[in-house]
Amino acid sequence: MIYRRCGTSGLQLPAISLGLWQGFGGSASPESVSERCRRAFELGITHFDLANNYGPPPGAAEANFGEVLRGDFRAHRDEIVVSSKAGYHMWDGPYGSFGSRKHLIASCDQSLGRLGIDYVDIFYSHRFDPDTPLEETMGALAHLVRAGKALYVGLSNYPVAAAVRATELLRSEGTPCLIVQPRYSILDQQAESDGLFASMADRGIGTICYSPLAQGLLSDRYLSGDLTASRAEATGRLAAGLENETAIERLRALAQIAEARGQTLAQMALAWVLRRPEVTSALVGASRPEQIELSVGALRQLDFGADELAAINRLAFLAEDW
Ligand SMILES: NC(=O)c1ccc[n+]([C@@H]2O[C@H](COP(=O)([O-])OP(=O)(O)OC[C@H]3O[C@@H](n4cnc5c(N)ncnc54)[C@H](OP(=O)(O)O)[C@@H]3O)[C@@H](O)[C@H]2O)c1
Repeated sequence: MIYRRCGTSGLQLPAISLGLWQGFGGSASPESVSERCRRAFELGITHFDLANNYGPPPGAAEANFGEVLRGDFRAHRDEIVVSSKAGYHMWDGPYGSFGSRKHLIASCDQSLGRLGIDYVDIFYSHRFDPDTPLEETMGALAHLVRAGKALYVGLSNYPVAAAVRATELLRSEGTPCLIVQPRYSILDQQAESDGLFASMADRGIGTICYSPLAQGLLSDRYLSGDLTASRAEATGRLAAGLENETAIERLRALAQIAEARGQTLAQMALAWVLRRPEVTSALVGASRPEQIELSVGALRQLDFGADELAAINRLAFLAEDW
């Protein structure tokens, strides 16, 4: 594993982190959850990314990961970074989502209960709330650190201007923002083009990129056009993008570039995200332990020639509905 410093902080994160958004909830067996988490940790993945609502049902991924922390990982808490978040819909009523102090602090307490730990290492505001003063949301994050419930705080899915203002507020609270978590992949380059990477790097803040495989689109599994037994079939969300024959052809052409580099398409997609110096970690999901092994294999070849980057960009497309 390669470990990268998160911005200018003291914390290093693995270049590949494991996220438990999909496939770690109620329908996953405890054995399968623990097998994937264990394999990740054996490969040096020390960072596990969760949120209050990961499941289904919401909360199930944290409850399942809590079992892993009490079981396989019981001797390893100090070797592991656990992240959680609040901001998307978690419970009914006016306090169950978004960015109020009431929601963030209650939700963090619930997450700690499900995980069975005293603190999370990183706690995020999961999304920008246009109706709550940023001062309130950032004040709640800073409170969680002061209360010992989180070691560091981060922001996810914030527009650039709001992210910049939020980081200023956090600094004035004495709790600098550690990290931002945008979506970023060959198929969604907005975090780079809208200036988020640059403005966070200028402020010494790290970046962890989610869905670097575009939820699996950037892998070999759809090149035949068959969507069965995959995330696309399970969620029904990727299918629309793949019905477009041009998309499959472009994925096949991307896979050929990867092959010439001695990588699978998924490995090249991860290396492509990690080529940016602002990126601390690529945050992957996995339905099987072998996928985690393959993803870590991407680290053997992170360099790109200018011609390769240009060819990849010519083939990039924005997948719809994912
Ligand atoms: N902050 C946010 O709002 C937000 C939003 C989304 C995600 N996230 C975080 O980011 C994490 C990752 O997101 P994601 O699951 O969308 O990421 P992803 O890595 O783009 O997609 C993961 C999917 O790709 C396939 N896959 C994984 N490794 C592979 C490999 N080596 N070769 C071929 N296929 C492979 C698997 O699909 P199959 O399941 O079909 O096998 C897997 O479920 C989440 O778990 C969560 O922690 C955060």
